[in-house]
Amino acid sequence: MSRPTYYITTPIYYVNDKPHIGHAYTSLACDVMARFKRMQGYDVHFLTGTDEHGQKIEQAATKAGVEPQAFTDEVSKSFRALADDMGYSHNDFIRTTEERHKAGVQALWKRLEDAGTIYEGGYEGWYAVSDEAFYNEDETEVREDGKRYAVASGKEVEWVVEPSYFFKLSAFEDRLLAHYESQPDFILPASRRNEVISFVKSGLRDLSISRTTFSWGIPVPGDEKHVMYVWLDALANYITALGFPEQGEGGQYQRFWPADLHMVGKDILRFHAIYWPAFLMAADLPLPKRVFAHGWWTNEGQKISKSLGNVIDPYALVDKYGLDQTRYFLMREVPFGNDGDFSASAMETRMNADLANAYGNLAQRVLSMIFKNCEAQMPEPGTLSAADDAILASSLACLQTVAEQMERQAFHRALEAIWALVSEANVYVDEQAPWALKKTDPERMKTVLYVMANVIRRITLLAHAFMPTSTDKLLSYLGEAKDAATSTYSHDNYADMIAPGLRIDKPSGVFPRYVASEVEG
Ligand code: MSP
Repeated sequence: MSRPTYYITTPIYYVNDKPHIGHAYTSLACDVMARFKRMQGYDVHFLTGTDEHGQKIEQAATKAGVEPQAFTDEVSKSFRALADDMGYSHNDFIRTTEERHKAGVQALWKRLEDAGTIYEGGYEGWYAVSDEAFYNEDETEVREDGKRYAVASGKEVEWVVEPSYFFKLSAFEDRLLAHYESQPDFILPASRRNEVISFVKSGLRDLSISRTTFSWGIPVPGDEKHVMYVWLDALANYITALGFPEQGEGGQYQRFWPADLHMVGKDILRFHAIYWPAFLMAADLPLPKRVFAHGWWTNEGQKISKSLGNVIDPYALVDKYGLDQTRYFLMREVPFGNDGDFSASAMETRMNADLANAYGNLAQRVLSMIFKNCEAQMPEPGTLSAADDAILASSLACLQTVAEQMERQAFHRALEAIWALVSEANVYVDEQAPWALKKTDPERMKTVLYVMANVIRRITLLAHAFMPTSTDKLLSYLGEAKDAATSTYSHDNYADMIAPGLRIDKPSGVFPRYVASEVEG
């Protein structure tokens, strides 16, 4: 029987600069989701990549004194490396300079044209190269330096006058509003959905979708003086990566489109929740099922910016704290969807309190007791007490809670639920005190350790999508095997109990405490 599919995408990243925490964060959220869905048995397709055309990239290449193609080849590599180094489990990485993409975008353009939604005109208005976005005058402001800026992004805008093709965006207002209305979870979180709805209600203007004043882009079919607007080019990656325009039986497009989830930052929601669905409606293609807009990180209370020199380098975090620790912190600290602040003290507290103490010690204590006092074998339990039944029941129920939260990308809530179980397990083990039972009632000690090992197994299965490496190690002690079809653990076996007699290796701790080095004081 074929498995249900799940298609999830990250934005494709601009290659004008090296990767920072914002890029790592968007992709991490997708990775956690993808891993969780695979464990649920889905045939997951997880796409990421790089956005390589447009004026901003052309300018960055010029500044670096190299041709755009050579420039993007180089910078794109660093995004590929980030994805590998952060342990992302993507199935494909698309570059918009690839042939498969160009052909697909041109086919999309032709569909829009054939549908009568493209016309030729002239653009006159404000444009922010940093955002690659057009703004209405009332979305801009003149600041003290006499220059004009986009209010939303704070990026400088310039007045642009040039011939241009337009997309009849204004014709899609009603259909878009009807879609938001009938699919309340199309845009999440709800606060962002409301923003999009009021923006569309305030009236949409037709969108300029080609430029003539620079050439680093995909040529407009039939009119090569024009290159396509980089957002039309970029958004199409979600289908060109699946082989569009090829839509035949058995192909990836047919298997995975429409996407289940486009994960984006709040700054690029408008493109994904308004332009992209309108393009798809015009081309008579199905719309993605959900666009989720997450918030932005600040650093120790300050907006992150190159000029302030406080950009957070994901590699530095991983070097200092560890990969799984960094992943845990980013997903746990801030309600997903809200803005959040990175601070070293919050990171260190989470690492020590949640990971090293609450979870790591618990697992280490129980596994080493089994190793030392039960001849390195999973003990045979006796009759279960009410306390045993209660903790096992909580661990069983936790799967459902976590799955519900994940379904809405409430990653922080999913982790809260898992850590509520970790606390309950700590209370249980303190009350049962197996170390004392060793002398007074060794049979009861075995039962307690057996119950705990099972609870730890379930906690670890739930934490796996968030912290794949450390949990792999813990699960290997508990004899858990990966499923051949999904190459990961399966939630189907979640309720199973570990076979008594299973041999366990000498455990070593997987969540070290963070101790500030002397240099830092
Ligand atoms: N190329 C476009 C996306 C095209 S998708 C068809 C783009 N690229 S980007 O390189 O600027 O990366 C964007 C992603 O990084 C966005 O999701 C954005 O929200 C995220 N972040 C950039 N800075 C961020 C923070 N300080 N905090 C969290 N995420 C941030 O936009």
